[in-house]
Amino acid sequence: MPRNEWFETVAEAQRRAKKRLPKSVYAALVAGSERGVTVDDNTAAFSELGFAPHVAGLSDSRDLSTTVMGQTLSFPVLMSPTGVQAVHPDGEVAVARAASARGVAIGLSSFASKSVEEVVAANPSTFFQMYWVGTREVLLQRMERARAAGAVGLIMTLDWSFSQGRDWGSPSIPEKMDLRAMVRFAPEGIMRPKWLSAFAKAGTIPDLSTPNLAAPGHAAPTFFGAYGEWMATPLPSWEDVAWLREQWAGPFMLKGVMRIDDAKKAVDAGVTAISVSNHGGNNLDGTPAAIRALPSIAQTVGDQVEVLMDGGVRRGSDVVKALALGAKAVMIGRAYLWGLAANGQAGVENVLDILRGGVDSAITGLGHASVRQLSGADVVIPPAFDRTLGAR
Ligand SMILES: Cc1cc2nc3c(=O)[nH]c(=O)nc-3n(C[C@H](O)[C@H](O)[C@H](O)COP(=O)(O)O)c2cc1C
Repeated sequence: MPRNEWFETVAEAQRRAKKRLPKSVYAALVAGSERGVTVDDNTAAFSELGFAPHVAGLSDSRDLSTTVMGQTLSFPVLMSPTGVQAVHPDGEVAVARAASARGVAIGLSSFASKSVEEVVAANPSTFFQMYWVGTREVLLQRMERARAAGAVGLIMTLDWSFSQGRDWGSPSIPEKMDLRAMVRFAPEGIMRPKWLSAFAKAGTIPDLSTPNLAAPGHAAPTFFGAYGEWMATPLPSWEDVAWLREQWAGPFMLKGVMRIDDAKKAVDAGVTAISVSNHGGNNLDGTPAAIRALPSIAQTVGDQVEVLMDGGVRRGSDVVKALALGAKAVMIGRAYLWGLAANGQAGVENVLDILRGGVDSAITGLGHASVRQLSGADVVIPPAFDRTLGAR
C-alpha cells in the first residue's frame, strides 16, 4: 500500500525531511550559528506565550485574510526568502505554486536556484529579495530584471555578518555539482533513494548556481562565487538603504530589524514594511528571539509601516501569537523547507494548510471573527518576556 504522504504537523514534516534528504542538505536547512542560542530561542519563546480563550459566544465565521505590501493574503503568512538549492528539483517554483494555490505571497531569494521569471510565472505575488552584493550599477541591473519579470515588491535583507561555524558542524557543500562532486557525494545520495529519484525523474542534478545574480549575457555564478562577491562588497549605509528604496519606488521591505532605533531609521528611509527578524538564528548568535523584540518595535513604528516578523514559526498558533503582539503577518522559512523536502509542492501546501488550520482554531478559541481583532489581551505574556533593543 502506498504510504500516506500527508503529515499533520510541521514537526512531522521535519522528521520526514531528515529521513529523505542527504545529511549535508538537511544540515544546510537546520543551519543556525555558533552555539545555536538564537535559533533555539526563536522557537522556545513561542512556547513561553499562552492563550486566554473563551468558551461561548464564539464566531461561526472567521476572516483570516490580510494585505501586505499591496498583496492580498488568504491568511497572514508569507514564504520568507531562502536559497533552497538541492532540496527538491522544482525548488522555489514548487514553493511559488504552493503559495499561489493557497493564496499567499512568496519572497524569492537572490541566492535561489530558480529564476525570478519562472517564479513570478508560478506566483504573481512575488517579492524579490536582495542582499547588498556588488556595485550600485550591478544592484540596479538585478533589481530592474526583477521588476521586468513582474516582481511586485522588493525585500532588502541586511542582517548578515558572515559568522562562521556552528558547534554541531557545518555541512560540506561542493562549489558546483559536477562529476567530481557527484562521486564525492554519491554515498550520501545512495542512502537517500527517494531524494535521488526525484532528481532522476526530473532529469536533472541539484543546481548550486544562482541564476538571479547572473550578469547580462553571462552564466549564473555558483553559490560560493556569489558569496565571495558579497563578502568583497563594502557594507551598506542607511543612505544606501534609502537609495535602493528610492530606485525601486514600489512596495519595499527591510528584513532583519531587531532594534527600535533601526526601525525608526527604516521609517526615515521610506520603507513600506519591516520584518523583525534575526535571519532564523543564522546571523549573530545571542540575538534574542524575533518574537521578543516584536512588541516594542510594533508599538513604536506600527502606525507608520507594516510590521512583520519571522523566526521560529511552526504552528498556526505561533502566527496568532505574533499578530497579538503587533505583527501584521509572519514569514516562514524552515517550516516550508521541511514540507518541500518531505513532499514537494504538495508538502508545502500541506504546511500552509496546517498553519491555516491552526490560525483558524486559535481565532475561534479566542472568540474573534477576524485576525484583525487580535490584541495583547489574547495572550498570556510571562514577566520579562520582551526584549526592548535600541530604545535610546
Ligand atoms: C536554509 C536557509 C536559507 C535562507 N536563505 C535566506 C536568503 O537567501 N535570504 C533571506 O533574506 N533570508 C534567508 N533565510 C532566512 C529566512 O528568510 C527567514 O528569515 C528564517 O528562515 C525564519 O526563521 P524560521 O526558519 O525559523 O522560520 C534563510 C534561512 C534558512 C533556514
